[in-house]
Amino acid sequence: MGLELRAVQTDEEWAAMHDIRRRVLFAPGRHSPDIIYDENHPEDRADGNVPHLLMLEEIPIGVVRLDLRDTVAIVRLVAIEPAYQGQGHGSLMDELVTQKAWGLGVRQLRVNAARTAVGFYQKTGWQEAEWDADELAGLAADCVQMVKDI
Ligand SMILES: CC(C)(COP(=O)(O)OP(=O)(O)OC[C@H]1O[C@@H](n2cnc3c(N)ncnc32)[C@H](O)[C@@H]1OP(=O)(O)O)[C@@H](O)C(=O)NCCC(=O)NCCS
Repeated sequence: MGLELRAVQTDEEWAAMHDIRRRVLFAPGRHSPDIIYDENHPEDRADGNVPHLLMLEEIPIGVVRLDLRDTVAIVRLVAIEPAYQGQGHGSLMDELVTQKAWGLGVRQLRVNAARTAVGFYQKTGWQEAEWDADELAGLAADCVQMVKDI
């Protein structure tokens, strides 16, 4: 299967990433109405923050941003295109993220997990552990902090 975790570079890749995030992570009802998706959020271009697309046979089917902080990386804005959910793609993306992070010297991954996704993270080797309570605000207000030592 031609599955690739690709750092977003071209205008087309940025557009595909925004489209998946907007439809899956910022779908109506998922957050309070005052949270509006910002395509020009500075965190997407900050040093060490690397937005990625999961490409299946050159079709963008998933997104994840890897925020690299030396031996730790925070996994943010994780989503699989609805038509491709529940078929193992999220789990394969998690493996690819883990491999990439390991190769960059990361030894612990962290996430603010949506409550509805905690089961997914548990199945892919994560466990609940608070890593920065200050992050549990805004978009992540109702999230559960989890880590994976790799
Ligand atoms: C959460 C998400 C990334 C998982 O991707 P996916 O491709 O659907 O997951 P997979 O098919 O690889 O599932 C892997 C395992 O996790 C389980 N799983 C998947 N989603 C789950 C969920 N929401 N709750 C509990 N278990 C879940 C699957 O049943 C599977 O278990 P199995 O190995 O026993 O069969 C995807 O469903 C998604 O984008 N959801 C909406 C956005 C979201 O919640 N993102 C996370 C924000 S932190």
